[in-house]
Amino acid sequence: MIDFKKYIAESIGKVLNEETSEIQNFIENPRGENNGDYAYPCFRLAKILKKSPMVIAEEIKSKIEFNTDIIEKVEVAGGYLNFFIKKEALALQVIQEFSDNKLYGKSDIGNNKNIVIDYSAPNIAKPFHIGHLRSTVIGGALYNVYKYLGYNVTGINHLGDYGTQFGKLIEGYKRWGNEYNIEENPIDELTKIYIRINQACKDDEIILEECRNNFKKLEDGDEYCVQLWNKFKDVSLKEFQKVYDLLGTKFDSWNGESFYSDKMNEIVELLEKSGKLEESEGARVVKLEDKGMAPCIIIKTNGSSTYATRDLAAIMYRARTYNFDKALYVTSYEQTLHFKQVFETAKLLGLDEKYTKGLEHVSFGMVLLKTGKMSTREGNMIKLEDLLKESILRAQKIIEEKNPDIENKEEIAKKVGIGAVIFNDLANSRIKDEIFDWDAILNFQGETGPYIQYTYVRTKSVLEKAGGTPDIQNIKIEYLTDDASTKVLKLIYNFRDTLIQVTDKNEPSILSRYLIDLAKAYSNFYNENKIIVENEDIKNARVYLTFAVGKVLKTGAELLGIDMPDKM
Ligand code: ARG
Repeated sequence: MIDFKKYIAESIGKVLNEETSEIQNFIENPRGENNGDYAYPCFRLAKILKKSPMVIAEEIKSKIEFNTDIIEKVEVAGGYLNFFIKKEALALQVIQEFSDNKLYGKSDIGNNKNIVIDYSAPNIAKPFHIGHLRSTVIGGALYNVYKYLGYNVTGINHLGDYGTQFGKLIEGYKRWGNEYNIEENPIDELTKIYIRINQACKDDEIILEECRNNFKKLEDGDEYCVQLWNKFKDVSLKEFQKVYDLLGTKFDSWNGESFYSDKMNEIVELLEKSGKLEESEGARVVKLEDKGMAPCIIIKTNGSSTYATRDLAAIMYRARTYNFDKALYVTSYEQTLHFKQVFETAKLLGLDEKYTKGLEHVSFGMVLLKTGKMSTREGNMIKLEDLLKESILRAQKIIEEKNPDIENKEEIAKKVGIGAVIFNDLANSRIKDEIFDWDAILNFQGETGPYIQYTYVRTKSVLEKAGGTPDIQNIKIEYLTDDASTKVLKLIYNFRDTLIQVTDKNEPSILSRYLIDLAKAYSNFYNENKIIVENEDIKNARVYLTFAVGKVLKTGAELLGIDMPDKM
């Protein structure tokens, strides 16, 4: 496929005697239909050449040479040079890309660079909450897109399976375990035990001491404690797996916090060596005052390690094991300070700069119920498995109303219900708080997952009515140059660029927005242009475009983690 931007940059480069890549960085996608498809601003040159941007634009225009089969015209507007791509060229480039069966938009631009993504990471014996869902969905989407662009990606579930709370849980279980039905309802029951033991600790110092001892014993490999801890872990993972199965989530590594228990000594030693590990009120910390942050606590007063120490050990391990170019951490913005402290402290470990520069916190906003914040304490916590199941049920009800005779209702409802929740998580820029509202996320006409699925299903039914996808040899490009078709084609052309932007900004919503735009553009095309018409040439061209739209919608949605039904 011709890279139009690059082609324009080359043409300008010849006039200005400048590198293509340099110029390409300045080329913009103008707003407004009258400003063409690409614009080159001449303001930067004005200073250097001591002429007005307008005069420079006129000069370039008078000297520039290009293939008129590719570029229809160039206009000067303000200090900009506006380029209009020939509609036939756009259509030809896009259509040709679908000729063989390769995956549209797939590339190797990632050049096998190593990307580590740390996402989901729920805590053992605690509920898998809606924040973990966001992390799972955002991380999963990034995973897919990086992979599609040829990066070597490792997905890690950094489970919260370590820390002093396990000493408490062991003590609670020891005392009252037989009163609770852990097998049946592990997380709920363990949470109850945890709340009860916490209360007991508050009332009685001696119990608290016991809990601390348990954690110490766990660390020292005491058989009883390790066995219990394993049990908690097993039953919790079984619960989490139900959510992962519904979402279709996979990981390459399940190394949680406990994996680093024997890797923290090295971190403490390295920090000691750096001379930056200080005593402070009985704890050992790295002071970060000069960076405007509270100290990063490495060893607590009671001698135990912290969440941060384990993250430092994980950075070291991941650098060595995966030789990462980028290591992403997908959590809510509540952990912004934690990661700032950890990333700053990591600079003291003597790692190559490549690694410390590659660390990035990919943060996201809260999920708000229409009625306010969800939290465990206030008791309006929704269990995730229940939430996903409810979404499926609601989707099924809608499908039953709209299309009572359809086959495989349950399977379709699953795709629609889960797709709706996933899309909602990715619909807006990740840092924004998200409102969770059933009616909105399942609205087939709104900017939702089901709308994209619905549009895809529509492309399928058009293809079916037309008797299949026409042969590419039979496509006459001139029938795809009307405004509605051009809009669709331009979007399809931009798919690859969209994916690159997703990885540049670690922002899956760029792809979600894109899919909504494409679905809307197709609906407009569908309303403007009758597809199944007498004239075979017109019909073939329009059916082919429909086929291409379906392909891109499906590819894009699947990259977000959304399955497409064939009917709904
Ligand atoms: N378990 C943590 C939580 O639930 C998230 C872990 C994120 N990853 C990390 N490497 N710190 O808040």
